[in-house]
Amino acid sequence: MIVTFCCTDTKAEPWLAGLRAALPEATVDVWQPGAPPADYAVVWTPPQAFLDEQPRLRALFNIGAGVDALLQRRIAPQTLIVRLDDAGMAVQMAEYVCHAVIRHFREFDAYDAAQRQGQWALRKPRRREDCVVGILGLGVLGTRVAQALRVFEYPVLGYSRTPKTVPGVEVLHGAAGLGTLLARSQVLVNLLPLTPQTRGILSRATLSRLPPGAYLINAARGAHLVEDDLLALLDSGHLSGATLDVFATEPLPPDHPFWRHPRITVTPHTAARTLRDESIAQIVGKIRALERGEPISGVVDPARGY
Ligand code: NAP
Ligand code: GLV
Repeated sequence: MIVTFCCTDTKAEPWLAGLRAALPEATVDVWQPGAPPADYAVVWTPPQAFLDEQPRLRALFNIGAGVDALLQRRIAPQTLIVRLDDAGMAVQMAEYVCHAVIRHFREFDAYDAAQRQGQWALRKPRRREDCVVGILGLGVLGTRVAQALRVFEYPVLGYSRTPKTVPGVEVLHGAAGLGTLLARSQVLVNLLPLTPQTRGILSRATLSRLPPGAYLINAARGAHLVEDDLLALLDSGHLSGATLDVFATEPLPPDHPFWRHPRITVTPHTAARTLRDESIAQIVGKIRALERGEPISGVVDPARGY
């Protein structure tokens, strides 16, 4: 069995060592042009040249949850495209979003500012029931985030493409469902995959339907957000602030207005990182299942885009 590693911006050696230890029967190498064709590949934004040289590839294992970049490539229809299925990412995303929601709701930025002035300045408690959190995308990450927010008793609305049930969460879908969620969400969290249907979904048209003073958290993809529309809605006062982990251009350019905006928190695409050991264990488990002829989870539907 040949397993090829073809990941841009990723140090190969630790992955090769982990994959070789877990799959001693396989030949595991980094892809070089002209290398023997692979049975399985572990990839992150692989070049098209790699995919064009793979006549017998059974599965491509993406070392992230989002497959938007991978689906830009031409991939043989018989090759399974497999995303990371949690692998330690969901709890990180839950931490990231809960931190941002709590920081906003409990006004910790205002307490930071007060400390810098040496002021003991109590703020009026806010009503938790008024802090409705709307989550766009109730997949592996969105569902875990919803469950974590419920632990703190925030009212949670969720939005998915198809109807679904998540205990303690009011789940909406369809165009009418999106309108309802936007009208009621004091905090909007985006955890949608980037597809032709969701690109630019965080625009003036949608964000202006949020209640005045609403807060935005985007931890999915930068291309979901129309960045100038966010700036305009912050400047008009319609939105109170935003926490952004992902951007149209990454790294965020040094002169980008988000860096210095007083009501935007920027993090460098770190909300839910790929954990190498967990990911290797998951990928190897799936390779073994496929070799036994068993089905696996996390298979992407290219037509659906996630
Ligand atoms: P997922 O399991 O594929 O779930 C996607 C969810 O979005 C599903 O609930 C799906 O609805 C819903 N959805 C898809 N298209 C929709 C549409 N047009 N309208 C309404 N709902 C739609 O994805 P995930 O694993 O939770 O990850 C979500 C995204 O997070 C990834 O695609 C990636 O871009 C991003 N991400 C970011 C980081 C980071 O560090 N910032 C880390 C990992 C992932 P159904 O349930 O009906 O299918
Ligand atoms: C990170 O953004 C991922 O898609 O895993």
